[in-house]
Amino acid sequence: MDNKISVLLSEKELDDRIREMGEEISRDYEGKAVHLICVLKGGTFFMCELAKRITIPVSIDFMSVSSYGDEVVSSGIVKITKDLDKPLEGKHVIVVEDIIDTGRTLSYLLKVLKDRKPASIKLATMLDKPDRRVVDDVNVDYTGFVIPDKFVVGYGLDYAERYRNLPYIGVVEEV
Ligand code: IMP
Ligand code: MG
Repeated sequence: MDNKISVLLSEKELDDRIREMGEEISRDYEGKAVHLICVLKGGTFFMCELAKRITIPVSIDFMSVSSYGDEVVSSGIVKITKDLDKPLEGKHVIVVEDIIDTGRTLSYLLKVLKDRKPASIKLATMLDKPDRRVVDDVNVDYTGFVIPDKFVVGYGLDYAERYRNLPYIGVVEEV
């Protein structure tokens, strides 16, 4: 069973924008090092590309979270299923996300991470769907693209675990 995927953002558009974001981060943190935190699994593709475009020292770490329960609308209460390997104290942290939708996951996660006393903490996302936001405490510092309220796949984003490997961002057409 294949779904038709229409291209929303091409590989070239993503590559160009991520390069700009890497340059911007390198300028903003000049003379410092950044510690990128990737939220598995969706954030991996974007984080790898972004890290390659940052010219100041970079370290990376990963964490995995899941919503409690199986409700369709996320409750905002998330469980850390894989925690970071290293402490955050004194580090300039950038949380790297694939997409911000309702913002519930990140709202919770940022509170947890701030308690670990990083020197600073910012948020970078490849995609933002601001029309869907239900929280008002998620401030995005670096945004790749603002997109309309459509379900997208590719570049790390999945539909039932498929399509993460697409090198572009596409919209799933119902067939
Ligand atoms: P929220 O911001 O707490 O609603 O959750 C965002 C998470 O939902 C993202 O990290 C994705 O894993 C998933 N998600 C939201 N919108 C999409 C989409 O359009 N395609 C694929 N996954 C999505
Ligand atoms: Mg995610």
